[in-house]
Amino acid sequence: MQKVPGFFDLIFYSQKQQESNLNKFYLHAQNLKKMNVLIVGSGGREHAFGWKLKQSPKVANLFFAPGNAGTAQLGTNLAAGVSDFQQLKEFSITHKIDLMLVGPEVPLVEGLHDFFAADTELKNIMVVGPKKMGAQLEGSKDFAKEFMMRNHIPTARFITVTNQNLPDGIAFLKSLQAPYVLKADGLAAGKGVLIIDSITEAESALTEMLAGQFGDASSKVVIEEFLSGIEVSVFAITDGKNYKILPEAKDYKRIGEGDTSLNTGGMGAVSPVPFADAIFMEKVEKQIIQPTIAGLQKEGIDYCGFVFFGLINVNGEPFVIEYNARMGDPETEVVMLRITSDFADLLVAAATGTLDKATIEPDARAAATVMLVSGGYPGSYENGKEISGTELVTDSIVFHAGTKPVDGKVVTAGGRVIAVSSYGATRAEALTTSYKNAGLIQFEKKYFRKDIGFDL
Ligand code: AMP
Ligand code: GLY
Repeated sequence: MQKVPGFFDLIFYSQKQQESNLNKFYLHAQNLKKMNVLIVGSGGREHAFGWKLKQSPKVANLFFAPGNAGTAQLGTNLAAGVSDFQQLKEFSITHKIDLMLVGPEVPLVEGLHDFFAADTELKNIMVVGPKKMGAQLEGSKDFAKEFMMRNHIPTARFITVTNQNLPDGIAFLKSLQAPYVLKADGLAAGKGVLIIDSITEAESALTEMLAGQFGDASSKVVIEEFLSGIEVSVFAITDGKNYKILPEAKDYKRIGEGDTSLNTGGMGAVSPVPFADAIFMEKVEKQIIQPTIAGLQKEGIDYCGFVFFGLINVNGEPFVIEYNARMGDPETEVVMLRITSDFADLLVAAATGTLDKATIEPDARAAATVMLVSGGYPGSYENGKEISGTELVTDSIVFHAGTKPVDGKVVTAGGRVIAVSSYGATRAEALTTSYKNAGLIQFEKKYFRKDIGFDL
């Protein structure tokens, strides 16, 4: 027989109901609460993050540290360098920052997230970007290679050399076929990888690196087997246990057409990448992404942020060339275009350990970006050239990289100046639009590659 509810039961029931409603109300209020977001960095990647976050109803105000002339149009630029933790702290308190998204690797490797987590005034700020330990995936090539070995993640055969085991390094070099790949262990602003054809040159390059060619960064050198194939950048965001995969991209790193001459920060990018089909991406997820996230968790590395998998496709099999502890630049300038879902929701889910409940809705269109650079880059170049014509662009998104506002004008302030990003029904259509608009933007000694996407 069912018990008839008594007076106390009713009171209890109504209390429970009220609590549950109150909880729902708080959840709802939290959901509606608009956040102040601080984006750390000053490049095209950070402008693209800002562009995407600006579309979110969850974002109240955007701040950039230090930002550029483009980010100044989306929010407030704060005069703090990416490594100036104390200044970032003061600004975060003054501007009531709820979430900090860290763009570049340097402050992550230096421990910006650890600094925020350890400070009583900052510890409630959500931070997207790994702590120092996780950032070692990018900060130390040796750490990354050993991590991949321990977790059975496919990568090139290697040895790590210091002045203590130089003969082992020479012997390993001699056991390999040309070309020879030498990598400074630490951060070297993208310049620490040498690919050398002759064995005698490789031996002397190894000695020079160990003698301090890249300062402390090359006191350890990773020597790797050369892998032959086509590269693709794959991105995941993780809260340390769950992960979501973002749209993939391909970037073009060399300054010269046909992928020739010197390495740069990146001259353009496209997404999607046709050879990264369902079969290839399933291998990437099973053989690379899952064991990476599981490995981080198993090794007690608390990781909240993006993992950038620099992959190479060797006869249909993915291998890891490098990890980065952040999003790519200029890949972000196409990846942000290819996400239709709310990016602020995704960042909050990563920071609160609830990525299992998040979704990333991809945009079916293609996206392309073309980087306009200062003449002379990646060698020496001049800054301070006035930029005109951005107002003529209607069907591309103009992401600023190295620019700054001076007396109401926008001038160049870096090697990579502007990324012209476009949508298209196809990759070719997106590229055509970016190229049309790249022609409208002018500054003295502007240069750009005319063959982005040529190899696909
Ligand atoms: P990393 O900074 O490690 O991404 O290296 C820079 C570039 O060097 C990569 O994007 C590749 O084009 C090339 N590279 C690095 N390692 C290898 C390798 N083991 N085999 C072939 N190319 C490589
Ligand atoms: N585009 C390559 C990088 O961001 O390192």
